[in-house]
Order: sequence, then structure tokens, then C-alpha cells
Amino acid sequence: MENIFEKAQEAANFVSEQIKQIPSIGLSLGTGSSILLDQVEIVKRIPYSDIPYFPTSEVVSHVNELVVGKINDVLVFILAGRMHYYEGWSTKELTFPIRVFQALKVKTLLLSNASGALNPTYRAGEIILVKDHINMMPDNPLRGKNDDRLGLRFPDMSEGYSKVLRVKVKKEVPEIKEGVYVGFQGPSLETPAEYKMLHTIGGDLVGMSTVPEVLVANHAGMDVLVFSIATNICYPPENITPTTLEEVIAVANESSEVLIDLISKLLKSL
Ligand code: HPA
Repeated sequence: MENIFEKAQEAANFVSEQIKQIPSIGLSLGTGSSILLDQVEIVKRIPYSDIPYFPTSEVVSHVNELVVGKINDVLVFILAGRMHYYEGWSTKELTFPIRVFQALKVKTLLLSNASGALNPTYRAGEIILVKDHINMMPDNPLRGKNDDRLGLRFPDMSEGYSKVLRVKVKKEVPEIKEGVYVGFQGPSLETPAEYKMLHTIGGDLVGMSTVPEVLVANHAGMDVLVFSIATNICYPPENITPTTLEEVIAVANESSEVLIDLISKLLKSL
């Protein structure tokens, strides 16, 4: 994808023309997002297909709309539907919505996803606060010529997951566990040997999304907060059971009410 700055500006203009007030917080919700939408006081829904250059996800559980709405009286953007590397998008393409947020001057990005639990202390359905990541996807959205208008050539990642925001979460939920998310390309789930490797290198969770968005958001200077719903147990190998998309969605949906409650409380203090 070329000329991202100009394209994001054009898409941002299209979006801002349709709303009176521009939120400074962006949410991108993965699996379970349709349930979260029920809790939102909708101001405007814009189909991704209407927005210039916006990609659209083919994942069945994603709705493909940019929603402007209020949660607990706080105005937010919601990316209802996320694009994935395994669908064939480049990481530059799939992070375009984050560039549009950047052009709209969004300051805080809150993401959620579903993941496999590599940490044996996690239980299925547990909401984990992501504190760091390991990028095992064979791409980085910042690869190629750097556009200095978008960010630094070598963005620092020592605090890719905002400490200030994580402290706020822990004030709200002292017992929440923090973990390291490994981004793996998918779409096949990992083999027992791969889960074991990812556990060994320091991963607590593994999933097929989020890392590219977090890299772009950091490049863009945003504060990032990520929650992951651990949907299936992946370690130790004897505890692995076959996993289907339906099960992942069902477990994620069960936890999403608790997650939206938490997000809604947090939004007041961001
Ligand atoms: N691996 C990768 N992505 C996932 C998993 C998993 O086990 N569970 C939910 N998303």
C-alpha cells in the first residue's frame, strides 16, 4: 500500500464529515464484538465498504462497520470487524484503519482479541491484560520506506502497551493477570509442538491478530491497551483439545459482557 498518509487523510475527511464530534478513543474489538455493540449508544454506523481505501474482513463473526457511539457517556470510535494477515491482507493494508484513527487524532487505542492460553495458570474464558508481545508474523507493517509524517523510522517499543493504562486497569480489577501475546500468522491453529515452543520463548497467549495494529499505533504515538480472552488451553500438551471457531466464538462471547463492563468503567478514567 502506497501513499498511506494521503489515503488516511482522505478516509478521515470522509468520516469526519459524517459526525459532529470526533472521539479521541478508538476501540477495535475482535471476536465477540457484535455482543459488545449491543451495549453501545450508537451515534453513527459507517460500513467499511463506504470508506475510501478501507479493507473489509471476511471473518464470519465480524460486522465490518466503523461505529461512532457512546459507552458510559464517553464518545468512542469502534472498529467492529478486524482484518487479519491470514485473510491475505498485507499488514500495511490491515492496519489502515489505525492510520485513519491517527489522521482523526485518536490518542488512545483499545483492542481486544481471542487467543489460545500458553500460560497454564489461565482458564478458558479468562480476560488477560496484555503487557507485551512477541511478533512471530512474517511481516511488520512499518517495513519499507518510512513516512516521517506518520512516525519515526525506529519506533521505541519498550512500552508498547501503556503502563499508565495498565495501572488503571489493575486499580479496577486487582486480580487481573498480565501476559505476553504472541502474534502467529494462522489460519491453521498451532500444533502442540508450536504451542510448546511459544510457551518456552515466553508467550502466555497466542493469536492471529493485534500485533500489526499495536506496532502501527505505537508508530502513530498512541497509547495502547489490549485485552485478550483466552478461549482454549494450549499448554501443557496433554491438556490440548481440538478447537473450532465456533468454540472460540462461544467462549469469547461468554466473557465479553464482563469485558465491556470493564471497558466501560475504564473509559471514564482515560
Ligand atoms: N491459536 C491462535 N489463535 C487463536 C487461538 C489459538 O489457539 N485461540 C483463539 N485464537
